[in-house]
Amino acid sequence: MAKILVTGGAGYIGSHTTRFLLNRGHEVLVVDDLSKGYAHNVPEGRLHKLNLLDGEALDAVLAGARFDAVVHFAAFIAVGESVREPEIYFQNNVAGTLSLLAAMRRHGVRKFVFSSTAAVYGNPESTPIPETAPHRPVNPYGESKLMVERILRWLDECSGFRYVALRYFNACGAAAEYGIGEEHEPETHLIPLILRAIRTGSPVTVFGNDYPTPDGTCIRDYIHVLDLASAHAAALDHLLAGGASDSFNAGTGIGYSVLEVIKAAEAATGRQVPFQIGRRREGDPAELVADSSKLMKTLGWEPKITSLQEMVASAWQFEKLRHASA
Ligand code: UFG
Repeated sequence: MAKILVTGGAGYIGSHTTRFLLNRGHEVLVVDDLSKGYAHNVPEGRLHKLNLLDGEALDAVLAGARFDAVVHFAAFIAVGESVREPEIYFQNNVAGTLSLLAAMRRHGVRKFVFSSTAAVYGNPESTPIPETAPHRPVNPYGESKLMVERILRWLDECSGFRYVALRYFNACGAAAEYGIGEEHEPETHLIPLILRAIRTGSPVTVFGNDYPTPDGTCIRDYIHVLDLASAHAAALDHLLAGGASDSFNAGTGIGYSVLEVIKAAEAATGRQVPFQIGRRREGDPAELVADSSKLMKTLGWEPKITSLQEMVASAWQFEKLRHASA
C-alpha cells in the first residue's frame, strides 16, 4: 500500500477520495488551508493546515515523509467568481500548483493525480466529448485547469515526472455514512440547491428552458463522488505500477436534463420540488456529456452508481444529516 498526500482533502471531492483511499489500505495525509474545506471532513489526526503557496510549510510536511504520490484537489472552483476575479483563480489554481510541484521536486515525489474539469472543453461542438475535442475554455476557472495540464505535460516531457489528469463532469452525491457530502459556501450546484428547495419550500430556479434539448433545459453528465474517488484510486494504481502520463474524462456517459434531475429528486425523496423557470445563466453550454471510454479501457475503471435517483438519494441522506429537522 502507498503513502499518499492529498491536497484539498477537506473539500468535497477530496474528502470522499481520502476516505476511499483509506478504505483501500493506503496511508493518507491531507493538506488544506480550510479556506473552502472543513476540518470535520478529514479523519482525526490526518490534517495539516497550510496554503500551497507556502513552500516552507510544504517542505515541513514533505521532508523525510517519502510520499509515493500526490493527489491534488486544492483549487477554487466557482466558474462565475472566476470571471469576476480571474487573478485569484490563476494565483490559487496555477501558482499554488506550481509551488506544490516545486516542493515535490525538492523532495523527490514524482507521481501526481490532478483534479481537472470538463470546463477545459468550453462549448464543445458535439457530445459525447472525447479527450481529443478542442480545448477552448470559456472562463478563467477552466483556463486555470488547462494551464496546469499543459505544465504537467512539460514536466512529463522534461523529467521523470508522471501524472494523470481527470477531467470531471458533474460530481454529485455523498457518503453520508462518513458524515461527508457537498457543502459549498455559497452553493451554486444544481442537486444541493434542489434538495435545499425541498427542505425549505423556497423554489429553485431552472436556468432557461429554451435550449436546443428535448425538454429545453441543459443536459449534464452527473457522476457520483465515490465513483470519482475510485477513478483517483485507479489513476494512482496506474502511476504506481509505472504507467504513462495521460488525461482522462470522468463521467458516466449518460446525460440528464435539469428537469430530469428534478424528477429524480422527487422520486428519491418522495417530496415535491418547488421550482420556477428563470433566464439562462451566462456561459452554460446546452449539453455536456463525457465519452469516458478511455478511462474505462486504460485504467479499468467503471462507475458503480449509474442511476441518477441513487445519486440524488445519497445527497438527500447527507442533506438530512446536516439539517436534522428536514
Ligand atoms: N442549474 C439550474 N439552476 C441552478 C443551478 C444550476 O438550472 O440553481 C443548471 C445549470 O444551468 C446547469 C446544470 O443545472 O445546466 C448544472 O449546473 P451546476 O452549477 O450544478 O454545474 P455546472 O455544469 O455549471 O458546473 C460543473 C462543475 C464546474 C465545472 C463545469 C464544467 O460544477 O466546476 O461543470 O463546465 F466547471
